Amino acid sequence: MTESGKMKSKSLVISLMLAASIQTFNADLIDQKCPIDCECHYFRINWVIDCSESNLTSVPYDELSSNVYVLDMNGNNIEHLNPFPTDIKLRRLQMAHNHLSELSYDSFAGLAYLLDADFSYNMITRVDPEAFRDSPGLITLELQNNPLIEVDSHFLNCRTLLYLDLSTCGIHRLNTQFFHNTTNLKKLDLSGNPLQQITPGPFDHLTNLEYLKLNNCTLTHISPEAFIHLENLRELDMSNNNLRTITWSTILAPLVRLESLNIGNTGITNLPADAFNKNLYLRHLVLSQNELHHLDIENTLGHNLHNLQSVDLSNCGLQDRLSEETFKNSSKLRVLNLSGNPMFAGDLTAVLRHLPKLHKLSLSNCSLRRLPDAFDVLEHLEELDISHNPLSDAFVKLLNPLRSLEYLDMSYCSLGYVGNNTFAHMTSLKKLILSGNKLHTLDENLFANLTRLESLELKNCGFTTPLDPNIFGSDKISSSVIELRLNGNPLEMPDEGPLLPKQLSNVEILDLTNCSIRRLNPDILSRNKNLTHLNLSNNRISSLEFLRKLRRLEHLDLSNNLLTTINRKMLKSNSHLLSLNLIGNPFVCNCSIVDTWDWAVHEKNDLHVLIGSKPSEFATGAVKFRKSLSCTYDDETYRNVTNQRLLMRKGDVTPHRTWAKYIRESNCERQA
Ligand SMILES: *[C@@H]1O[C@H](CO)[C@@H](O)[C@H](O)[C@H]1NC(C)=O
Ligand SMILES: *[C@@H]1O[C@H](CO)[C@@H](O)[C@H](O)[C@H]1NC(C)=O
Ligand SMILES: *[C@@H]1O[C@H](CO)[C@@H](O)[C@H](O)[C@H]1NC(C)=O
Ligand SMILES: *[C@@H]1O[C@H](CO)[C@@H](O)[C@H](O)[C@H]1NC(C)=O
Ligand SMILES: *[C@@H]1O[C@H](CO)[C@@H](O)[C@H](O)[C@H]1NC(C)=O
Ligand SMILES: *[C@@H]1O[C@H](CO)[C@@H](O)[C@H](O)[C@H]1NC(C)=O
Ligand SMILES: *[C@@H]1O[C@H](CO)[C@@H](O)[C@H](O)[C@H]1NC(C)=O
Ligand SMILES: *[C@@H]1O[C@H](CO)[C@@H](O)[C@H](O)[C@H]1NC(C)=O
Ligand SMILES: *[C@@H]1O[C@H](CO)[C@@H](O)[C@H](O)[C@H]1NC(C)=O
Ligand SMILES: *[C@@H]1O[C@H](CO)[C@@H](O)[C@H](O)[C@H]1NC(C)=O
Ligand SMILES: *[C@@H]1O[C@H](CO)[C@@H](O)[C@H](O)[C@H]1NC(C)=O
Ligand SMILES: *[C@@H]1O[C@H](CO)[C@@H](O)[C@H](O)[C@H]1NC(C)=O
Repeated sequence: MTESGKMKSKSLVISLMLAASIQTFNADLIDQKCPIDCECHYFRINWVIDCSESNLTSVPYDELSSNVYVLDMNGNNIEHLNPFPTDIKLRRLQMAHNHLSELSYDSFAGLAYLLDADFSYNMITRVDPEAFRDSPGLITLELQNNPLIEVDSHFLNCRTLLYLDLSTCGIHRLNTQFFHNTTNLKKLDLSGNPLQQITPGPFDHLTNLEYLKLNNCTLTHISPEAFIHLENLRELDMSNNNLRTITWSTILAPLVRLESLNIGNTGITNLPADAFNKNLYLRHLVLSQNELHHLDIENTLGHNLHNLQSVDLSNCGLQDRLSEETFKNSSKLRVLNLSGNPMFAGDLTAVLRHLPKLHKLSLSNCSLRRLPDAFDVLEHLEELDISHNPLSDAFVKLLNPLRSLEYLDMSYCSLGYVGNNTFAHMTSLKKLILSGNKLHTLDENLFANLTRLESLELKNCGFTTPLDPNIFGSDKISSSVIELRLNGNPLEMPDEGPLLPKQLSNVEILDLTNCSIRRLNPDILSRNKNLTHLNLSNNRISSLEFLRKLRRLEHLDLSNNLLTTINRKMLKSNSHLLSLNLIGNPFVCNCSIVDTWDWAVHEKNDLHVLIGSKPSEFATGAVKFRKSLSCTYDDETYRNVTNQRLLMRKGDVTPHRTWAKYIRESNCERQA
């Protein structure tokens, strides 16, 4: 690497650090090493080296600062790990999405400070049980999505480990000593392994376990002794297995502290009355996606439902008519999910009259042509989902008595008309979703009485013109709506003047994603001085003059539009911006990008403002790849760059660059 290249990357590092030190006033935060292919920054007071998604074939061991806190090597082509420098104080190692084939002690010897390690999505077949012998504080180990081969003894020797993710690792069998030396585990994820059965033994040492995931494990058999020592288990997920023949009361009996059980999609066709006899703390039960065609809810669930607060019976193919007595004994039930089962409004009318304490009810996709006439009893109901039912316009007025309702989803109900008596008394309503209805008539004053409404969703309603002012009542009174989502309406934007009626001048969050917008006139949002969040993603916008009036704007999403260039002048009026998403625009690699980057670093003091410039957080189990900001060189500039071969590595074969990489190899004048 050339001297000028070195200077430049160093000055970038220092400018990033200045930004960090302004927040921390810590003089020690200066001068840490940063490898050439990587991007480094402080996260609070911790040095983060981000070498992710850079086509690297090895860890840049020689260039690592010994004070590195996080080393992010996700998404490279690394096949083998050499020993780390002996004095390194690495706390978190991220190696997801590489080509590692084993984890051995040699690689990690001396990593005395390691707390979290992520090796998910590699090709690891073998893990040396001693691999982390030198890391006496290791808490989290992620190994999901690796083709592990079977082990005969204990898997790992690591007493401090609290969280182990072994999901989708091709594990067929767990020997009885598998968890022998990881006895402090609190959270264990084994989902997605073809275990077929749980034999006695493997879990016997996990007496501290609180969360266990065994979903998607092709399970057909579970030994009655499988869980006998899991007395501290609080959450168990066994969904997506075939557990038709399980004797539930025996298997669940030891789990005396169980609070939450998911046995959705397990092929069960019935449940005995004593299934949860010993699980006195069980409050949440998910039974969804089971073929419970002829479940006698009254008798089979009757005993069990005494203590349950929440039951999910969604998509259970319930075929029998519900009798009036169905939920008679479920006096504590607060949350009931019946979505995806064909229902008759008349039956529901009778059933719901026994559930006056219900707080949440989901009747989505229940083939309802009309609504049950029982909402007058549900005086505590706060959330109601009746979406995806072919409702007839006329019955919607039955919702009228729901005075406590705070959340109402009536999206995709084939409604063409909503009368102004529907919401007349819903003075508690905070969120209303009417998306996916081709609403041709909205009555005058329809929303006028919704004095607490904060959020209104009208996505995909086929609107071409913006909302009629009359539906919000008098233009002397501002509506309380602060969040408005109009995504997917092919709106014709006015050439001049504002988009929204006067009543909506309090809106702070406006979503206009996918609205076929090409141009926004400079006054389009002039009434919405309070706007803080604006989402314009997936449109065809190429210029930004409308931004000048949005002085309170904090979050702006312009991803997937047609911007080819941007610079700090365009953002002059938006001094409160906290995030700007420009991902997915056809930017040309030129100095305006350096200018925008400098704006983020110097003016905003935080590169995180530019979404996709670098990672913002380190999530466990989350998607590891991220989209990044990119640009493309025009042909001539690219020829010049390849001729100079300044900061190029073999493998940089396309004119496509992430902004971070372009900044490092560009020769633009920097304005401090
Ligand atoms: C990595 O290599 C691939 C294929 O050669 C290329 O498409 C990609 O842009 C490269 N990524 C980086 C960050 O250099
Ligand atoms: C694993 O645990 C067993 C039983 O607690 C113990 O005897 C053995 O020494 C441990 N293995 C190692 C390598 O520490
Ligand atoms: C489990 O199975 C469900 C349904 O088949 C699927 O949607 C889900 O992604 C699977 N999860 C895992 C961890 O394999
Ligand atoms: C319903 O509750 C009553 C009174 O508590 C009880 O006698 C009856 O057995 C219960 N029915 C069922 C099916 O549990
Ligand atoms: C009801 O079940 C459906 C389908 O499983 C789910 O999407 C929805 O979130 C559930 N609703 C409630 C209130 O639990
Ligand atoms: C509605 O439920 C049916 C089964 O009753 C299912 O096939 C369909 O996918 C569901 N539709 C939606 C939108 O959830
Ligand atoms: C709003 O509420 C008032 C008082 O309860 C009532 O007189 C009026 O008719 C309601 N508005 C609508 C559109 O129903
Ligand atoms: C309800 O809407 C109709 C038709 O738009 C209108 O004539 C009537 O005045 C409205 N009622 C109220 C209370 O606003
Ligand atoms: C965008 O909106 C159109 C209707 O204008 C809709 O058909 C399409 O599915 C939407 N696309 C996405 C990705 O939501
Ligand atoms: C905007 O916000 C301010 C204070 O946050 C509030 O007083 C005002 O009513 C809001 N609405 C408009 C239209 O300015
Ligand atoms: C904007 O909308 C898109 C599409 O719905 C969504 O993915 C994105 O997260 C939204 N952006 C913000 C900042 O909320
Ligand atoms: C490419 O390099 C030549 C010679 O240094 C220079 O004259 C030309 O302006 C450069 N073109 C671009 C687009 O940078």
